Amino acid sequence: MPEIGPHLLSTDGLSAEQVSFILDTAEQFAAVNRRRVKKVPPLRGKTVINLFLEPSTRTRVSFELAAKRLSADAINLSGKDSSTSKGESLVDTVRTIEAMAPDILVLRHASSGAAAFVASELSRTAVINAGDGLHEHPTQALLDALTIRQRLGTLENLTVVFVGDVLRSRVARSNLYLLKTFGCQLRMIAPGTLAQPEFTSLGIEVHHSMESGLKNADVVMSLRMKHEYLKDTFVPSLEEYAAHYCITEELLEAYAPSSIVLAPGPYIRGVEVESAVVDGPRSAYTQQVENGVAVRMAAIFLLSIGSKDIKDPVNYESRE
Ligand code: CP
Repeated sequence: MPEIGPHLLSTDGLSAEQVSFILDTAEQFAAVNRRRVKKVPPLRGKTVINLFLEPSTRTRVSFELAAKRLSADAINLSGKDSSTSKGESLVDTVRTIEAMAPDILVLRHASSGAAAFVASELSRTAVINAGDGLHEHPTQALLDALTIRQRLGTLENLTVVFVGDVLRSRVARSNLYLLKTFGCQLRMIAPGTLAQPEFTSLGIEVHHSMESGLKNADVVMSLRMKHEYLKDTFVPSLEEYAAHYCITEELLEAYAPSSIVLAPGPYIRGVEVESAVVDGPRSAYTQQVENGVAVRMAAIFLLSIGSKDIKDPVNYESRE
């Protein structure tokens, strides 16, 4: 079994074997989430601290649920509730948290590189990056991969298209590292101002029109306009953006008829994607959210227990 850890900060450097192992573990926890009683004992006595210094619905709730369903103790701390709001530095906050001996620290932060910085400052705590600024969101890419694998039966050699604000998307970056490992063909569709030039060196095709970019896509990923990062001078108006780049059922039917549509969320109906797509049969949004809990259970479990030969994670019993 491949090693996972000591932290989960990025998908860059994860091998296809490691990704598949995490997804296989997540599938076992997904079965627990479908039971009437959705709780198993493997992480009794472990502690997970969720430090969210930036807003979140999906990631924060799913990390808390993931820890609790594994019987770990979960503590949630937001920016306004923590002493960072009184001026304490991030490093002093996380050292203070580490002194209370948690096993896992899940961090969301508005600064790119914050999770790696925190991991370098801590010696006894595994850090999971739950989204750091414009940089990465590795558990989102893993839950996207699980969803794609479930819907299409494979992750290999697919054509995956990111549409929208690629420039400011940590989700796109984590997805592209992961999907490249499986030989996927990657494209982005964005206006010139929102295309990410850094990605072109990784072999991603750039398209500025939906007609050319969507052609024969297997997976279309809708990216939200990230107003919270940088001054929003990238498009003249959301209406104008939507007129050219909103994902519609008509476009998908014409150019990518067998595609599925994913979005990390939150998504803005009528701007990035029309309601008929969100609520239609191509949409994998609900499945993504469901898989978020299972993937985060796998991440917390594998970083807590280490890379022992664990064949049955659901029934794992610690002898520590
Ligand atoms: N996908 C995602 O990170 O959503 P939240 O911001 O709601 O956690």
